[in-house]
Amino acid sequence: MTTVSVSDRAAHDLKADALVLGTVAGERSAALAAGHGLPSDAERHLSAQLAALHATGKAEEVLTVAAVPGVAASRVVLTGLGSAADGAGVGDEVLRRAAGAAVRSLKNAAKVVVALPSEDVAAVAAVAEGAALGAYRYAGVRGPGKDTKDKAAKGKAADEGVSAVTVVTGQAKDKAVKAAATRAAVLADAKAYARDLVNTPPNLLFPQSFADSVKERSSAGKAKVTVKVLDEKALEKGGFGGIVGVGQGSVRPPRIVTLTWAPAKATHSVALVGKGITFDSGGLCIKPPASMLSMKSDMAGAAAVAATVFAAAQLGLPVAVTGYLCLAENMPSGSAQRPGDVVTMRNGTTVEVIDTDAEGRMVLGDGICLAAESAPDAIVDIATLTGAQMVALGARVAGIMANDDTFRDRVRAAADTAGETAWPMPLPEDLRPQLESSVADLSHKGERWGGMLTAGLFLGEFVTEGTPWAHVDIAGPSFNEGSPWGYTPKGGTGFGVGTLLSLVEGYAG
Ligand code: BES
Ligand code: MN
Ligand code: ZN
Repeated sequence: MTTVSVSDRAAHDLKADALVLGTVAGERSAALAAGHGLPSDAERHLSAQLAALHATGKAEEVLTVAAVPGVAASRVVLTGLGSAADGAGVGDEVLRRAAGAAVRSLKNAAKVVVALPSEDVAAVAAVAEGAALGAYRYAGVRGPGKDTKDKAAKGKAADEGVSAVTVVTGQAKDKAVKAAATRAAVLADAKAYARDLVNTPPNLLFPQSFADSVKERSSAGKAKVTVKVLDEKALEKGGFGGIVGVGQGSVRPPRIVTLTWAPAKATHSVALVGKGITFDSGGLCIKPPASMLSMKSDMAGAAAVAATVFAAAQLGLPVAVTGYLCLAENMPSGSAQRPGDVVTMRNGTTVEVIDTDAEGRMVLGDGICLAAESAPDAIVDIATLTGAQMVALGARVAGIMANDDTFRDRVRAAADTAGETAWPMPLPEDLRPQLESSVADLSHKGERWGGMLTAGLFLGEFVTEGTPWAHVDIAGPSFNEGSPWGYTPKGGTGFGVGTLLSLVEGYAG
């Protein structure tokens, strides 16, 4: 876990492997952003470097300068903030990304000081979050290998990544600022957990191993998160026909994992339901190979839910939060579900299976029923549900649907606060007839057009009336197939953790 602290000492006096400063687009070349507090020789040196390097100060521009006179840190990393006049009044998400891009660029740096223009709590929080999120790396699955031996032979230690971030701010003694630093560390740790789960290869992460990971994290943490696991027998007995059907083609049986954070002082309760398909082959309606490659990420919703419950507990939020992880592996085999099968869901609704690749809504339907049984104040499900989400909104923007416009706006506001881009989408009643079946209560699939919306409409069938419910489709933003950007790495992004945590915080007090 990367630690995060705040300091009101002069940035150039702080010993570190790197000092991160902001740059802004100037007339000829980039200029240093406000708030660096450098002595004039250091400032002159860096200004000359910026000119010589033809720096632009644009977002995502990261330049490294070594051995700057008057600066205690061995390196200065200059990160672009864009065209804001002198760096003052820079938006929080701009700061978050700039801090993230800078820290992400670092090699062989353990301790980092970040001095970006951040004089209010929200700005300090953004800088701290961006820096801590940018410190993430996926360790991968490595053998003892040649690389390690070479390093040992040369007497070089392996790069362990950034372990400590210090944010420089004039407000370092403010209680709220200190709390923001703590929260940033918890949030980054939670997102790192979600990212790790998503990045874990699908031969290693399957329903039971996912459940084991959650149990392990709950016993390692100080805060009390109760974990309960329903195995395939319990699921069958409990009438969870949706998830049983999806999981029956795999030799690795399905699970529903319930995580509960229930503080004594809670006056509100929120239920979070996550799609946890540890691998989506499509089942008998098998996907083409290219579409299958990223399908280890089809459990990103469940990862975000698990990470959020732990984060809420670590922060001691006075809100009851229950996470439901709907875990299954969608595989083709002699025991796999068939198109045409009719299954009975947890609430008794029968569903005709049209396409075994529309499996997410089947496991979530059961999960939503289970969540609704505890009558929470609100239910949010989050899922890599449809390719249609990516067609509509691209790879970076999530779609939010809900049975209640006010609640949908509340979830979107939480996403905005977290710097996770999301956009409201409708659940048009006009599309509902597409879910009629001639042999069952419901069909689980509509026409191709509006596929994100019919999937949402299907899920809405399992919510009890009067409970505010939102559905967040994160098919695109949960997994970055391209290059890293801002604080977002390649692979699992942890998208959703920020939104869900902010939403839960909104129910406190
Ligand atoms: N897991 C996929 C959705 C997905 C696609 C997530 C691409 C991330 C990237 C989901 O289970 C799926 O296969 N959906 C189908 C639904 C269709 C069969 C109704 C789809 O979107 O094509
Ligand atoms: Mn699928
Ligand atoms: Zn899927």
